[in-house]
Amino acid sequence: MSIPLLLLCIVLLITDVCNRSAKKSKIKTYGLLKEVFKMGKYSTGIIRHEALQPLSRHHREALFTAINLKRAGTDKARFSLKKVLSDTKEYWEKSGKRHLRQEEEILLSAFAEFRSLDCPEIKEMLEEHVNIRAQMNKLLSKGYEDNIEEMNKTGELLEDHIRKEERRIYPFIEKALSEEKLKELVSLLHERTE
Ligand SMILES: [Fe+2]
Ligand SMILES: [Fe+2]
Repeated sequence: MSIPLLLLCIVLLITDVCNRSAKKSKIKTYGLLKEVFKMGKYSTGIIRHEALQPLSRHHREALFTAINLKRAGTDKARFSLKKVLSDTKEYWEKSGKRHLRQEEEILLSAFAEFRSLDCPEIKEMLEEHVNIRAQMNKLLSKGYEDNIEEMNKTGELLEDHIRKEERRIYPFIEKALSEEKLKELVSLLHERTE
């Protein structure tokens, strides 16, 4: 397990112990920690360049939102629909929108210096960004009561996108960029995304 992931686990545990005394909430947090461990497996074996590490850390955080949305209203749900929706809104406003913009403005602008954008990986990535924005707008503009299907759909869309970027698109982009360019991105992405 990476150090940032370990720190995230510790922060989650401390926050929960401090803020919630109910036994039920502790069970939920332990369940969430289990998910973090499980999530760590998806990146096992993938060595991410330092430049892209902040974006990968965002992905791990976004996976919490995606999994909670996917499970909303099902027997695997750990939180109420209201909480999942308000957490999703917070994630989207504070981090999700900005993450997509950073990938487009910084990462893809760098990629375009080396390769044409006319390739399946980048087309899929951009198309999915548009779909995620549309789906988030649709979901967050409605109430939550009769919105389970939309919540599950948004979760699936987000999770698939993150896993695809981690497994296929980020390695593709890293390979296309020169080491010099990647080093240039370190300061840009670390400054703007942390
Ligand atoms: Fe993306
Ligand atoms: Fe991403």
